[in-house]
Amino acid sequence: MAALGIVHLASEMSPLAKVGGLADVVAALAREQVRRGHRVLVVLPYYRDLQLPQGWTLSETGRAKVPWGIGAEPARFQLAEAPDGSMRVLLVEHTGERKFFDRPGIYDDPATRQGYPDNAERFLFFSRAALVGLTGFGETFDVLHAHDQQAAWVPCFARTHEADEPAFERIATVFTIHNLGYQGIVDPWVLSVAGFSRELFFPQSPFEYWGRVNFMKVGLVFADLISTVSPTYALEIQASGEYGYGLEGVLRRRTGDVRGILNGIDNDEWDPAKDVNLDAHYDREHLDGKRACAHALALASGFPMDPDWPIIGIVSRLVEQKGFELIEEAERELCELPARFVILGVGQPRYHEFFSRLASERPWQWHFATTHDEALAHRIEAGSDLFLMPSRYEPCGLNQMYSLRYGTVPVVRATGGLADTVREFDPITRAGNGFVFHAFTADEMVMALRRALAVHAESELWRLLQRNGMALDFSWKVAADGYDRLYEEAMERVAHGRVPTLDSVRDNF
Ligand code: ADP
Ligand code: GLC
Repeated sequence: MAALGIVHLASEMSPLAKVGGLADVVAALAREQVRRGHRVLVVLPYYRDLQLPQGWTLSETGRAKVPWGIGAEPARFQLAEAPDGSMRVLLVEHTGERKFFDRPGIYDDPATRQGYPDNAERFLFFSRAALVGLTGFGETFDVLHAHDQQAAWVPCFARTHEADEPAFERIATVFTIHNLGYQGIVDPWVLSVAGFSRELFFPQSPFEYWGRVNFMKVGLVFADLISTVSPTYALEIQASGEYGYGLEGVLRRRTGDVRGILNGIDNDEWDPAKDVNLDAHYDREHLDGKRACAHALALASGFPMDPDWPIIGIVSRLVEQKGFELIEEAERELCELPARFVILGVGQPRYHEFFSRLASERPWQWHFATTHDEALAHRIEAGSDLFLMPSRYEPCGLNQMYSLRYGTVPVVRATGGLADTVREFDPITRAGNGFVFHAFTADEMVMALRRALAVHAESELWRLLQRNGMALDFSWKVAADGYDRLYEEAMERVAHGRVPTLDSVRDNF
């Protein structure tokens, strides 16, 4: 397809600012799009802790007063560029007194581990300022691609306040849901800050959600097209409140405009044959190096070398979504398994306390590291035999795909992207790449782990299973094709004037 001008608007991008998978996805998708000839710009808040990779340059592209309620807030824009010109990131700085981004952390205050109380305003400002920055950027683009609730106002502003801006006149908007568990719900005061009259606050308005304002809903209503990060999640979120978290009705209303595009993984960054973080390297034909990685991980975790039990790895945000309450419930059964656990994660105090206690009571069996450590994440993927993801819901999930590529067998709950990527291994036909349970119960999870350990004991069969997983290709090419098609479709709608406007969506939702 013809080369397009694409702008991604997101709150995370690896390695500049990362909390979870959103960062990996924005970075890798943008990189793949550059590779296929598109002109790509990523817009990101300029957080104090932003990590600019070595060699990148920074240059100011402008300053502006961003409309903010009855007044304005000052912004500065800087373009960060990779030395080889392969990536460009427009950083949105807030130079006002409240320092929306010039503070530690991304969403949470690291001191309290709680979200900042003004997160709604911070990211509303990001979305409004991003468009202001783009109008002064001096390039025209074809697609605005907004990610998650932090950028959800972008499609709305593009069709309202900024509709007459020449830069956005012919622009298509796409909104991607990475996680419906975080919607950005606040009281109606936020509407006037966003520049809309309270007259627009009534049931069925895009701006009203059970007496409050829901950022995600605004994005879902105003985007030309909507996507989410796996085909199964695209169905789940429309089917019931269990996954739709209250927005299932809005999504069903737009069902013809919702697409599920499975995330890819970055095959260069996650490659056991040349991963710089590993003690030894291996590939599908030569698995010996994996033994050395396992040995190194056991040693680093303080485990005795005997008994040489398989290692079950976990790398995750420690939040309810990830299903750790099943591990809490199954504590006794898990401790009785001939297996060891290595957990890397940061998150809710409840899980910190739980995993810390296990690690101190049973140091020969449980190891818990509570930092954000990319290198350790790679060493756990390589050194583990199994990788456990008992998620309550999982829009896509990246770690099961990293695991498959590293010959580490995933044990997952069949939801969202986990259901789309992991298939139960059948010891008879020898098809499948992991172990899967359906009901969200501790018993089902323990049974899946037992099935996995039984196959692990048969080394021939286990190698076969590992190789099944390692043969799969989750590279970004397929996903990027999906996005190309999505953009094309959205642009066609724009060409035919079929885009949401304040009038067309007014009382339909
Ligand atoms: P989510 O986006 O819901 O957190 P994903 O599976 O999509 O889940 O992505 C999680 C990403 O974050 C993976 O790249 C994983 O390795 C990484 N990650 C999570 N916690 C940590 C941590 N403590 N240290 C290093 N990487 C982590
Ligand atoms: C979200 C989801 C995760 C997904 C990631 C990237 O954080 O929780 O499942 O892989 O976004 O799309």
